[in-house]
Amino acid sequence: MNVSKLNIVVLAAGLGKRMYSALPKVLHPLAGKPLLMHVLDTARTLLPHTTCVIYGHGGETVPQTIADESLVWAQQIPQLGTGHAVMQALPHIEKEGVTLILYGDVPLTSVETLKKLIATAGEHTLGLLTVELPDPAGYGRIVRHSETGEVAAIVEEKDASESQRKIGEINTGIMAVPNRYLHRWLYKLENSNAQGEYYLTDIVAMAVKDGVKVETVSPAYVWETTGVNSKVQLAALERIYQTAQANKLLEQGVALADPSRIDIRGKLSCGRDVMIDINCIFEGDVQLDDGVRVGAHTILKDVRVAANSIIAPFSLIEATEIGRNCRIGPYARIRPGTRLEDEVHIGNFVEVKNSALAAGSKANHLSYIGDAVVGRSVNIGAGTITCNYDGANKYQTIIEDDVFVGSDTQLIAPVRVARGSTIGAGSTITKDTPPDMLTLSRAKQLSIDGWKRPVKKLKPKN
Ligand code: UD1
Ligand code: CA
Repeated sequence: MNVSKLNIVVLAAGLGKRMYSALPKVLHPLAGKPLLMHVLDTARTLLPHTTCVIYGHGGETVPQTIADESLVWAQQIPQLGTGHAVMQALPHIEKEGVTLILYGDVPLTSVETLKKLIATAGEHTLGLLTVELPDPAGYGRIVRHSETGEVAAIVEEKDASESQRKIGEINTGIMAVPNRYLHRWLYKLENSNAQGEYYLTDIVAMAVKDGVKVETVSPAYVWETTGVNSKVQLAALERIYQTAQANKLLEQGVALADPSRIDIRGKLSCGRDVMIDINCIFEGDVQLDDGVRVGAHTILKDVRVAANSIIAPFSLIEATEIGRNCRIGPYARIRPGTRLEDEVHIGNFVEVKNSALAAGSKANHLSYIGDAVVGRSVNIGAGTITCNYDGANKYQTIIEDDVFVGSDTQLIAPVRVARGSTIGAGSTITKDTPPDMLTLSRAKQLSIDGWKRPVKKLKPKN
């Protein structure tokens, strides 16, 4: 059934004692993003009327870190159970429509699964997301009517009888509840149970009593409902997530040397015939066009690489645009604000920062190129440094088309090397150069005849 208004409540007040960390549990990263952010990003795609996050442990750190104006925050102090948590959101929940309950420590529920659950719920139907587990220990059990098979109640592990504990169908905690009943039921909750808490799960028996239908829905994968309580569980979920991403890439035709050795912490889009070697990390938004090859142990963050370029191993590249047929690395470091046009070569131990290199230019060995604008077909010799910083301010170096910079040159910015210039190796260039001439600044080579190497002095013996 279609509901007009969707409210979402995200429970995120718990302590997360077993993380053994000063950081609130829901802020621990999975794939480089806080657990809670995964939940909120999923929630956003459902276009809710409001999303209310219940926070408590960790105080204002959680709302301050997430810093999202579109959310409503409700504090829960002390934490008296999941029912008590949802109660804090009641002022922000409509009279009609449905409320979807999510958890800040259950990061990987798919949008499809939640849409299915919401579609099941309605003004007089409660939707429950349940899964069947081989080992259901610790979870609330779904108790069904022995004849009709209808859901009768959820019983928490600690309150369950021996026969109830044998039930394999468990409550994931995620549910979609009709608002008009939610307002009523929450006020009726009691805490006379094994844990002395206000259980949200008690509303299921109330629903049955009030003649509200309880329908169950299952996710495509059990891990969609797996919560994080420890670093062990977090690491396991990270691998599950990465494996799912790797499989998606393989299915799209991307060649991964080993799908178990890739980490995507953001969005990676690939063209045809892209090859990725082992142990690469992709952060932010990375786009690899057709035929791009990424060498082992490479880290790319917010990078776009155009067709047929090759990134050799051990390169670290951030906020950079790379043209076609470029060759980068091994061991290249390219920092934010860099733009490399087609057929540029950046070799080993070359650092480039906030610079533009036009087509066909090369810096193949041991250089620093910072705040530079480099023209076409420029060759930058080994050991060339743009001295862009005087200790207080930064200045630009301009190298025009067809320049040849000899090895071990320092270009003291601001400086312009004109078109067609050749700079003699070992020069320190402090003034603009004229076009098409050889410029060098170097002491003349001398040879001294009859010169003797110093000899070691003998120590006098006592
Ligand atoms: C809950 C369910 C159980 C289900 C399990 C799935 C209840 C009573 N039980 O049990 O049926 O199988 O989740 O994992 O709901 N939280 C708050 N404020 C509170 C209490 C909890 O924000 O006062 C948050 C926690 O941070 C956590 C989540 O709610 O993210 C679940 O709480 P937890 O105490 O772990 O519930 P379980 O005992 O695991
Ligand atoms: Ca739990």
